Amino acid sequence: MIKLAPIVAIDVADLTQVTILLKELSVAPRPIIKIGMELFYHFGPALVRQVQQAGFAVFLDLKLHDIPNTVERAMKVIGALGVQFTTIHAAGGLEMLTAGKRGLIAGAQSVGAAPARLLAITQLTSIDEQILHEQQHVSLSLGESVQEYARLSQSAGLAGVVCSAQEVSLIRPVVDASFLCITPGIRPLNAKQDDQKRVVTPAQARQLSTNGIVVGRPITQAKNAQRAYQQIAAEFMEE
Ligand code: C5P
Repeated sequence: MIKLAPIVAIDVADLTQVTILLKELSVAPRPIIKIGMELFYHFGPALVRQVQQAGFAVFLDLKLHDIPNTVERAMKVIGALGVQFTTIHAAGGLEMLTAGKRGLIAGAQSVGAAPARLLAITQLTSIDEQILHEQQHVSLSLGESVQEYARLSQSAGLAGVVCSAQEVSLIRPVVDASFLCITPGIRPLNAKQDDQKRVVTPAQARQLSTNGIVVGRPITQAKNAQRAYQQIAAEFMEE
């Protein structure tokens, strides 16, 4: 089974904090750095290059969701940044997912980079059954919805999905062995849950056969980010 180094979501507001964090995180196993919307909207491609130059693989988490043509063109730009992972909402449908992947490949080819692995967002981990039924008016259960999105993403040729660790066992039976399940909503014991509704510990994520974990605030808001990262990494990477 593919196991990735932990993915650290550097959801902070300024470049000074980014620089400090990257220094703290320059340890083994070297994390993959997830740049989300807040930072990217502030600092754009220059920040991606800064993280790459500091020697980290980049997970550019922009969760694209628009008409297929717009997504394809935007993905072409993302592809040309030479990032290793990026994201798209499975809810956008097969045509949008396929267009996104096509754009990503074209962008990477234009700069001679390997194409990023494209991951679909299934249901955000802040969504629970109640929100799904009462606000999104989806009649499937959360689990069934995630399963259907995983199937759809695989048929569009995506590399995997972002899902809750608790959903990995639902997804595995409906996808190929190489399909990645990347899971946010990770909280070490005693950490604050924040706005995450479905959380597991790094050790539970490992036991649930998650391929990679995404961890943000338990590291970025820790008094000692390096130690927090290393503890989480050790717990997850253990064989
Ligand atoms: O701080 P925390 O560990 O909750 O950060 C989790 C990260 O994973 C955030 O950047 C969030 O946007 C992202 N994410 C998520 N749930 C998903 C997909 C992405 O929490 N389903």
